[in-house]
Amino acid sequence: MKKKITNIIVLLLITGFSALAQNNNSVAVNQLVIVANHPGPVISKDIYGHFSEHLGTCIYGGIWVGTDSKIPNTYGIRNDVLFALREIKVPNLRWPGGCFADTYHWKDGIGPQSKRASIVNIHWGGITEDNSFGTHEFMKLTELLDCDAYINGNVGTGSPQEMSEWVEYLTSDSESPMTKLRKENGREAPWKVKYFAIGNENWGCGGNMTDEYYANVMRQFSTYLTNYGDNRLYRVACGPSDFNYAWTETLMKDGGTRGRFQGLSIHYYSIVDGWGYKGSATKFDEREWFETMRMNLQMDDIIRGHKAIMDRYDPQKTKGLVVDEWGNWFQVEPGTNPGFLYQQNTMRDALTAAIHLNIFNKHADRIKVANLAQIVNVLQSVILTKDDKMVLTPTYHVFRMFRVHQEASLLNIDLRSEDYTFGNKKVPSVSASASVDKDGKVHISLANLNPNKAITVSCPVIGETYKKVTGEVLTSTEMNSHNSFETPEVVLPANFTGFTYKDGMLTINMPSKSVVVIELTK
Ligand code: AHR
Repeated sequence: MKKKITNIIVLLLITGFSALAQNNNSVAVNQLVIVANHPGPVISKDIYGHFSEHLGTCIYGGIWVGTDSKIPNTYGIRNDVLFALREIKVPNLRWPGGCFADTYHWKDGIGPQSKRASIVNIHWGGITEDNSFGTHEFMKLTELLDCDAYINGNVGTGSPQEMSEWVEYLTSDSESPMTKLRKENGREAPWKVKYFAIGNENWGCGGNMTDEYYANVMRQFSTYLTNYGDNRLYRVACGPSDFNYAWTETLMKDGGTRGRFQGLSIHYYSIVDGWGYKGSATKFDEREWFETMRMNLQMDDIIRGHKAIMDRYDPQKTKGLVVDEWGNWFQVEPGTNPGFLYQQNTMRDALTAAIHLNIFNKHADRIKVANLAQIVNVLQSVILTKDDKMVLTPTYHVFRMFRVHQEASLLNIDLRSEDYTFGNKKVPSVSASASVDKDGKVHISLANLNPNKAITVSCPVIGETYKKVTGEVLTSTEMNSHNSFETPEVVLPANFTGFTYKDGMLTINMPSKSVVVIELTK
């Protein structure tokens, strides 16, 4: 009841302000009203999660080089990547797939590395992997990153026994064959595992199942995913991709099915011209830029559609939406293995990251986890590596700038912005979200999608006044500006001074194709 009244007050404040501004003929074309004194739901830090699959050089080469490598490493994990990832505060890391997960047999990845069975990665390039990166190595990585483990179990080619034994091996402290095995492999104490997924894309690479069939299989597997000691698993059921609402309906409608998971995953990739020729990551024109923005914004519609179904069956919002694969998917870089999904990353990808993270923030009431695809060297990665070299992508910088939203409370905003038009299609020019953290600092993250035009946003901040305003901006000269191994600092965040703040009115002058984060301190 109290929450309802608060919501009504906030709504009245926002509409009242907008109406007043209109009566005074002073409504700005681009206006962002922020109500700073009525915090909403907490933005789960896990919305800022990442995804590491056995795919191309994501794990082998990108993260794992082995203890004998000349590349500086800690327990076989490259130091440069480790330090860079700690900077962006990775909250959780999903592993080992993706499609790979439903072919992975975890027992092949434990014990002395030289004795491990190999595996042919049937989905990604058909290469043979030596399994030197397995459960212990992954859990070490999460410890070094100080993040939560998100493990994706094998439904497609696995069994309930194999999956339940993995959870036992990882998290049990009782005396049992699995804990004995773990101790023999050098790990005495159980680990903590927060997220555990019951299969991946089981409508496709995870077994080509129907929704009804998967729902039954998921119920069976989930029954044997035990909470050992004080470890509480957040079980993630495989959900649909894109607009497949029928799958969500099937998983949500039945209480017995619904009761078997805490989160429901969805996947959505922005693919400019469909699954045929997907366009180059770096050589593109404005049509492709515009289409990318349009497809990115579609994420909001997709989430609203799945949320509406979840709200019907779970109005208390006890189940989370887990967007555990998202991002841009382009053609691989010329000359690279088509099965390795290695793509460059430009200012366009930075906009993509900002648009998605703003959308996820705004749905903080339902979205509890999200994972960019993928962390290193695959699809829209935050890091690219080549031998001992490493480069931070524009997407990396957006994650660094947006980390201030992690565990902050969402603020209510009302955003009106001019259209960015291309041909006969249009999208809003500005994307934004705002939050207030535990110290009372407000952070506003904005993106100007228009690559040709600077935009001024008038931003009345209602309810509080602030003594100090600072900002950071990420922008570039060209749409396709990017960081390479030869020139790693082309797209870098800079101090932002393009704003004024007077009598509660913040005015932000955003360069074309830019991402801006503003901090207001009391
Ligand atoms: O991220 C690449 C692949 O995309 C994943 O393995 C799969 O889940 C999705 O189709």
